[in-house]
Amino acid sequence: MLLTNSENLRPEIMDILRAFGCDDADMTHYFSYGGGKFYNCIEYLGNFYDFENEFKVEDDLTFKRFAKRFAKLSVYKVLSENSSVKLPWGALTGIRPTKLAYSEIKAERSYEELFETFGVNAENISLVSEVLKTQQKIYNSPRGGADLFISLPFCPTKCEYCSFITAPISSTRGFVEEYINCLVREINAVKPLIQRLNSVYIGGGTPFVLETSGLEKIFEAVKNAFPDIPEYTVEAGRPDVFSEEKLALCKAYGVTRVCVNPQSFSDATLEKIGRKHTASQTLKAYEAAKKFGFDINLDLIAGLADESVKDFEKSVDTAISLNPENITVHTLSLKSGAKLKENIKRLNIDGINEMVALSRTKLTQGGYKPYYLYRQKYQAGGCENVGWCKEGKECAYNINVMEEISDNVAVGANAISKKLFSEDERIERYATPKDIPTYIAKIDKIIKDREKLFSKE
Ligand SMILES: C[S@@+](CC[C@H](N)C(=O)[O-])C[C@H]1O[C@@H](n2cnc3c(N)ncnc32)[C@H](O)[C@@H]1O
Ligand code: SF4
Repeated sequence: MLLTNSENLRPEIMDILRAFGCDDADMTHYFSYGGGKFYNCIEYLGNFYDFENEFKVEDDLTFKRFAKRFAKLSVYKVLSENSSVKLPWGALTGIRPTKLAYSEIKAERSYEELFETFGVNAENISLVSEVLKTQQKIYNSPRGGADLFISLPFCPTKCEYCSFITAPISSTRGFVEEYINCLVREINAVKPLIQRLNSVYIGGGTPFVLETSGLEKIFEAVKNAFPDIPEYTVEAGRPDVFSEEKLALCKAYGVTRVCVNPQSFSDATLEKIGRKHTASQTLKAYEAAKKFGFDINLDLIAGLADESVKDFEKSVDTAISLNPENITVHTLSLKSGAKLKENIKRLNIDGINEMVALSRTKLTQGGYKPYYLYRQKYQAGGCENVGWCKEGKECAYNINVMEEISDNVAVGANAISKKLFSEDERIERYATPKDIPTYIAKIDKIIKDREKLFSKE
């Protein structure tokens, strides 16, 4: 176990140790602060390193923030020097790079300089700048609205790499009817909490795994509560559950954007990750959705199974050749809950940096712009997920959620609502139970608790 005199800094240091795949028992850390200086002393594998950073601290929050930053930076320097490895985001962990950039801009500091200090590579600094540019229209539009998220944690089967709280419908079918009844109650209850609706996102799980009649009940409730929806996404999901009937239903209820998710266009990979569909089913689902005129998002994952750079390149090329409005490139992340996690100690995937680099080059050449960006723990190569869009086709929901610039009213199980308080930039959260039977049992309390949060001034 890592020895440190600062429990507050332990999680930050552990993030860096994990990113390098290093044993925490090999490190001892000592933190102190005095005379405006942050001191981090580290012993690693018998060698000693001392770091001293000066920063003018105005308040407790800034102190905590910079104590974490300097501790991470010190540990990063030690591990990077010892391993001769540089991570693409350097010592930046557990933070959305764009949010950090915005907060630096607000504080009239240069985020580029901060990122450089933290060892972020030049390509990633310019990626952040590009994302900020693409987001400008939505980021600068009037604040004060809300987005509605509807959680449908049901899937045809569980994919090997997935850590989302979702279960195969075969084990949850018995709850579906009651679950939908609860959703309808919640949708009615949140109507008065939303003064201006920016967007609706029905996500999963795999919403299209539900019967058409079940989906229709949800759409009907949404329409009755919110007749005018500027942007309406259904993360329909896995191509094996697509049908013309469900797509037609989406169209009839004003859905504007649909996600058809290949993850990979290699049948061998799809089989290995337990996706239970083929690439040709993805192409059919895509064509079927396109006929209805939806904006379409395709999700890809870099680092799946034992894919080579060539395999991944083929998936990127195929996705671009279809010309969808959005393509989201994830890099594999293995958190607890994923079946695959037990098999992988360290996310050291051959060629992952090359895959990420080629996706950026090809998407840019294909006329796409990066419009949102986020990172997760345990992500292959310490990389990131990037949403790409054709000109003017940014998904407002994704930007609003990632940058936390509007309230999020989230209904269903494992749904996290967020209320923004602009005067002190505070965000308060309310999470519903993850487990479906508990969600159903506590529905009255959930409705009351959420009301309480959103009626706070
Ligand atoms: C909430 S999932 C739902 C999508 C839908 N159920 C499907 O699988 O097509 C959204 C996206 O997250 C990505 N994702 C899920 N698990 C991941 C993992 N372990 N690493 C990287 N990306 C992941 C996938 O690209 C997936 O399409
Ligand atoms: S990746 Fe999608 S379909 Fe697969 S288990 Fe996760 S949420 Fe379900």
